[in-house]
Amino acid sequence: MIRILKNKTLLLGITGSIAAFKAAGLASQLTQAGAAVDVVMTREATQFVGPLTFESLTHRHVVTDVMALLPDSTIGHVAMAKRAHIFVIAPATAHTIAKIAHGLADDAVSATALDTRAPLVIAPAMETGMWENAVTQENVAKLVARGAVVVEPGIGRLASGASGKGRMADVDDIVDTIRAVLGRGGDLANRKIVVTAGGTQEPIDPVRVIANHSSGKMGFALAEGARDRGARVTLIAGVHSQRVPRGIELVEATSACEMRDAVLREIADADALIMAAAVADFRPAQQAEHKIKKGQAETIALELVRNPDILAKVAERRKKGNKVEDPAISPALAGGARVSGGNGRNLVVIGFAAETNDLLANARAKLEAKNLDLIVANPVPQSFGNDLDQATLIERGGAVTELPPMPKEELAEKILDFVNTLR
Ligand SMILES: Cc1cc2nc3c(=O)[nH]c(=O)nc-3n(C[C@H](O)[C@H](O)[C@H](O)COP(=O)(O)O)c2cc1C
Repeated sequence: MIRILKNKTLLLGITGSIAAFKAAGLASQLTQAGAAVDVVMTREATQFVGPLTFESLTHRHVVTDVMALLPDSTIGHVAMAKRAHIFVIAPATAHTIAKIAHGLADDAVSATALDTRAPLVIAPAMETGMWENAVTQENVAKLVARGAVVVEPGIGRLASGASGKGRMADVDDIVDTIRAVLGRGGDLANRKIVVTAGGTQEPIDPVRVIANHSSGKMGFALAEGARDRGARVTLIAGVHSQRVPRGIELVEATSACEMRDAVLREIADADALIMAAAVADFRPAQQAEHKIKKGQAETIALELVRNPDILAKVAERRKKGNKVEDPAISPALAGGARVSGGNGRNLVVIGFAAETNDLLANARAKLEAKNLDLIVANPVPQSFGNDLDQATLIERGGAVTELPPMPKEELAEKILDFVNTLR
């Protein structure tokens, strides 16, 4: 289940493109995420995939004819247009885009587009020639000017067998866009939330690193959850195994020093910082210029030096009235930027404690030492790479909430609920 999709009625329009078969995956994914998915199809779309496919996947009636009535005798495309929270046309042919841009309504998809007041998302799919044609670009621009959101086609193999721009965006990217559009005006709207995710890597030599097992799942779930609630999200990602979601600004930061610079830069105008990344405490004192050879030695010693403590730096900044006093940290920070930026609100800071032992005591000590608003204590290695997490939330005032094991997406929502209480 995805919170923003649960109990929403999504209207999926399908038109006559070879990419129509991918709409089956989209309908299935949205239905499984908790949405009610109504489907309207053009006559040409039904030549590529039958309505039975969509009826089976969504367990709902599919409209393929502008003149068709639903079993309760309401007019199919009108009833669907009225109850939709969002109208997504995927794939959208050049022909249907042109019709909608000009207000034609002689098939189920274009008539629905004309009638609905739901936000419109289109995922165009067509040959490169059709996509690049000035008339298609003008039609797309008209729809954008009226508020439509376009999920840009990518480059890849097209219906003709040629390769070029015009291939429908990936289903995951379309789902991301739907989530972001539905989330507009959510309870975190007009807030900037900075999330760190993944693990850091500290180079030993040009081919070896000190790393950790963080997958980035928790941080990515937080970033997606915040986006779905209307926030402007900057995700500072170290090394991870996640798909980069749409609707989020991604900043890559591989080492602890890079992550510190990125965090201190990004919090300058942020409302909340959530540090879910697993940051190395130490790095090699020196990075060897060439690959270290094994030689004859049975053992070698690696000297490590302490990495900057990012949360301690953030805490220092908060204590000093949020003034940036160390421009050497990053030249981009020079000039007295403030932690709580132009919005005048305080920065909410949330940390994670990943511990193998004495979890709660260690977490409490970190909460105090780093002056956090909330710490999420979770046991490792169990939580690393796992879809589930069993966390305990400890608040600055001492309140403790022990949570049962739950998917990281759900835990992310609980943490974001907390951000929302500290407006
Ligand atoms: C095999 C095949 C693939 C097609 N793929 C596309 C396509 O990806 N995009 C597109 O705009 N038109 C494509 N067309 C042409 C459309 O089906 C045609 O323009 C049709 O009128 C679209 O009708 P509709 O927009 O009402 O569904 C394809 C046609 C065929 C025969």
